[in-house]
Amino acid sequence: LRDKYIAAIAAASDEAALEEIRIAAVGKKGEVALKMRELGKMTPEERQSVGPKLNALKDEINTALTAKKSALSDAALDARLATEWLDVTLPSRGRPQGTVHPVSQVTEEISAIFANLGFAVAEGPQIENDFYNFDALNIPPHHPARQEFDTFYMHRAEGDDRPPHVLRTHTSPVQIRAMEKSGAPIRVIAPGRVYRSDYDQTHTPMFHQVEGLAIGKDISMANLKWVLEEFFAAFFEIDGIKTRFRASHFPFTEPSAEVDIQCSWVDGQLRIGEGDGWMEVLGSGMVHPKVLQAAGVDPDTWQGFAFGMGIDRLAMLKYGIPDLRAFFDSDLRWLRHYGFSC
Ligand code: PHE
Repeated sequence: LRDKYIAAIAAASDEAALEEIRIAAVGKKGEVALKMRELGKMTPEERQSVGPKLNALKDEINTALTAKKSALSDAALDARLATEWLDVTLPSRGRPQGTVHPVSQVTEEISAIFANLGFAVAEGPQIENDFYNFDALNIPPHHPARQEFDTFYMHRAEGDDRPPHVLRTHTSPVQIRAMEKSGAPIRVIAPGRVYRSDYDQTHTPMFHQVEGLAIGKDISMANLKWVLEEFFAAFFEIDGIKTRFRASHFPFTEPSAEVDIQCSWVDGQLRIGEGDGWMEVLGSGMVHPKVLQAAGVDPDTWQGFAFGMGIDRLAMLKYGIPDLRAFFDSDLRWLRHYGFSC
């Protein structure tokens, strides 16, 4: 009996097998217990000689079981240590990094270039009132220019007949706010979101403009042309890029001009700053005296230029992005492709 169980314990390969052996040998109905029960039928002499031997056997088997059990669990631990280790020197998987949206990137580039030209950044609210978006810019009620803007109106409560707030249709209201705040002389740009109810491949209901405003005692259209040419040369990284000024009309500038930059199409590809084609990029002009007046700046002392251009448009031109609508779809694949690392 002894040899049988000691050999079985030595051969057991896991704790479950060991437990089976324990039950069979020293369990309540195990072989040793059965033998102990037989003690009752023995003579006192036999009992005295067999009893202690059985107890010793039980102890020996229990000791062997305990020793084997701890050997097995040591082995199991060693096996786990061998397979479940972690190499802390491996490079980490890294977290996906976001990218800078092309509009943010280009806004930064524009602001940096104009900062070098002495322009500070001004801001205004996207929800504007009638005065700043229209009236102060010499667009009175019923002026046809109000229709041209496809304005989003915010309705007032019933019975409140003040003019409704609007989502600003351009960044020009920031001209008024900046002059009210800082007076003249002043040199600011105002990048930001603007809204018009319009949607197709080249129009989205929300887009971005940057306004420019320079007011001094003798600022002229010549200064405007120089500043814009400096800007485009720096922005597109093309020395001597040409601009073309076409007479135009805006209620808030007089005279007014639309400005084109030199470009050409080669093999279906747009080349900025080359050839003899033109692409319209902005509206501009000399700030209308009524606009200065509305902003509290004396038009008999001060004069200057203003311009407004589309940021999204500039981003598309510089980085070869084909569809304006994709700018605002928040498609991660697009953002990874066209975005900039931070
Ligand atoms: N606000 C005009 C627009 O949105 C652009 C502009 C700005 C024109 C300043 C002249 C001067 O189209």
